[in-house]
Amino acid sequence: MGCRVCGGNLQKFIDFGRQPVSNAFVDPADLTGEVFYDLAMGQCSTCTMVQQLNEVPRDVMFHSGYPYRSSESRLIREHFERTALEFLDGQLGSRTPFVVEIGCNDGVMLETLRRQGVRHLGVDPSAGAAEVARERGSEVRVDFFDEASAAAIRFEKGPADLIFSANTISHLAYFDSVLKGVDVLLAPDGVLVFEDRYLGDIVERTAFDQIYDEHYYLLSARSMRATADRFGFELVDAVRLPVHGGSLRYTLARPGTREVRASVQELLADEERQGLGDIATLRRFADTAEHVCQDLVGLLRDLRADGRSIAGYGATSKSATILNHCGIGPDLIPYICDSTQVKQHLVTPGSHIPVRPPEVFADPYPEYAVLFAWNHEKEIMAKERQFAEQGGKWILYVPGVHIV
Ligand code: SAH
Ligand code: TMP
Ligand code: ZN
Repeated sequence: MGCRVCGGNLQKFIDFGRQPVSNAFVDPADLTGEVFYDLAMGQCSTCTMVQQLNEVPRDVMFHSGYPYRSSESRLIREHFERTALEFLDGQLGSRTPFVVEIGCNDGVMLETLRRQGVRHLGVDPSAGAAEVARERGSEVRVDFFDEASAAAIRFEKGPADLIFSANTISHLAYFDSVLKGVDVLLAPDGVLVFEDRYLGDIVERTAFDQIYDEHYYLLSARSMRATADRFGFELVDAVRLPVHGGSLRYTLARPGTREVRASVQELLADEERQGLGDIATLRRFADTAEHVCQDLVGLLRDLRADGRSIAGYGATSKSATILNHCGIGPDLIPYICDSTQVKQHLVTPGSHIPVRPPEVFADPYPEYAVLFAWNHEKEIMAKERQFAEQGGKWILYVPGVHIV
């Protein structure tokens, strides 16, 4: 199969073998229905887009039982409130806008627009999460955003001034259909603004656990500029963000309708220096990732052999890759605490580690805790301050295994 964006040649650089669907937490009483697929990534030698070599059908990942809830993190709630307020102060300020959000989840961003009386529509196929957004008063269409649903929205609601998306565009293998949909729905002078985990940060910090089924693409300024060009848009802005271990916020507009910010050229130059478009850089990243995996398993085995108690913190989608690739199961980590109610009392996909409510963490504290939600390090370490105060040690593995 060639590049999903331009048809170019894909060069494989990492292969995790058989992996479960990362958010398919399972009932321990019935482990029979688990779905596995091959997780490997390559880079296009033409447009440099980093992408998976196999596609998991979208409705296998995103459905009424999809357990991820954006609002679990206070810092993420604050981030999206700030984002919405910035839009209202900036580009939306002078009009009565219509805003569409692709992948609104539990309404974490729409909430602020709704409170300000902005006409909006969230689109999200995960009915359970969408229902939470609706209960909070946001308008949501339970659907996959693509060319067909975008045409229906345009027909029913008219053109959108802003199409926003966070941590979702990279999940959509059918990029062509999505950008055709944006073209249909966006007003002539409207913009598509989206943020996603950044390839540059992933490579720099060896955050290889950011590779899992949902992250079909790992985006960069260079690959996004090529994609925008190909589908009749222009990349007019790219801004780095600290969220989720390093993200980038891209703005796409119709060519010539907006000034191209200097940040685009600056980022392209940074990426050139980092060698992000070079397959050798990604192959080095894959080698380092393998070492990190071995270090982590080695440490956990040594601690267990010493009779130490260990727990996990944050039953993240990211953890699926590291748990399954490294062969870490309940023998090394007997349970993982997570605040998401719908994950509690299930077991992690493939590795079958029980997920427990956060109250279990202190009852009694383990001696060591592996922080799988390392992108929420500050928030979780502050919340669980007592763990460290009474002698508990955090184990992190990005960028490399270390104990805090
Ligand atoms: N924007 C939120 C949620 C990200 S999780 C945040 O940043 O925290 C990704 C979300 O995208 C999930 O809720 C999933 O159901 C949704 N999604 C997946 N495919 C989609 C599509 N084609 N259109 C709209 N949403 C989609
Ligand atoms: P994410 O890395 O995809 O955002 O997932 C973070 C996971 O960590 C999610 O399942 C919720 C969980 N979590 C906690 O258990 N406690 C917390 O304080 C935070 C911020 C997240
Ligand atoms: Zn390509």
